[in-house]
Amino acid sequence: MKACILFAQPGEQSFHHEILHRVERALNQADISYTVRDLYKMNFQPVLSAADMKGVEQGRVSADIEEEQQLVTDADLLVMVYPVWWWSQPAVLKGWIDRVFTHGFAFRYEAHGPVGLLTEKRAIVFTTTHESEEEIRARGFDDLITKQIADGILSFVGCEDVVHRNFAAVSSASDQQRNQMLDEVETIVSRAVQPVTV
Ligand SMILES: Cc1cc2nc3c(=O)[nH]c(=O)nc-3n(C[C@H](O)[C@H](O)[C@H](O)COP(=O)(O)O)c2cc1C
Repeated sequence: MKACILFAQPGEQSFHHEILHRVERALNQADISYTVRDLYKMNFQPVLSAADMKGVEQGRVSADIEEEQQLVTDADLLVMVYPVWWWSQPAVLKGWIDRVFTHGFAFRYEAHGPVGLLTEKRAIVFTTTHESEEEIRARGFDDLITKQIADGILSFVGCEDVVHRNFAAVSSASDQQRNQMLDEVETIVSRAVQPVTV
């Protein structure tokens, strides 16, 4: 099994870096090889250009996207780690999705509708929000983050068993609460990669 981790948090030190560290620890413990795509560090170019669109129509992609698509193809598990910004991904990750999950690579349209092409892959998404679960619920946004990334994107492109875990109110969480969240990260990843026993 191989994993590809998409990490979208600027800077060097943050709670997201700790989440990433725990994801890596769980993968190391399970002896699973992985690649980290630290999109800010890579200075990933997230804007889907007219040239990109023309290329997709003609069945080709630029070299930077070819590299990302190869990593996705090789991965059995995709892991995303990002803060929720405007109830969505930071632009660098949203742009990675725009440019990498292209028509013909990640999905195609058939007579009965869209078909995901990234099958036999699992996905885990860890997000954080400033708002608490109660605040999110009061605004009627409870399912919004999950629907957008898990249903609207990852299941759409064919991923199976998509798990999304949002850690709410991280800004005001105590050290103890943050440690519990980090333990949960490790548990979720370890569970997802443990061999299926029959
Ligand atoms: C551009 C931007 C947009 C944001 N949008 C949201 C949002 O829609 N909902 C929310 O709960 N928090 C939002 N936040 C807060 C981040 O989710 C929060 O900073 C992140 O979860 C990490 O928390 P921390 O910075 O306190 O460690 C936003 C932050 C930024 C910078």
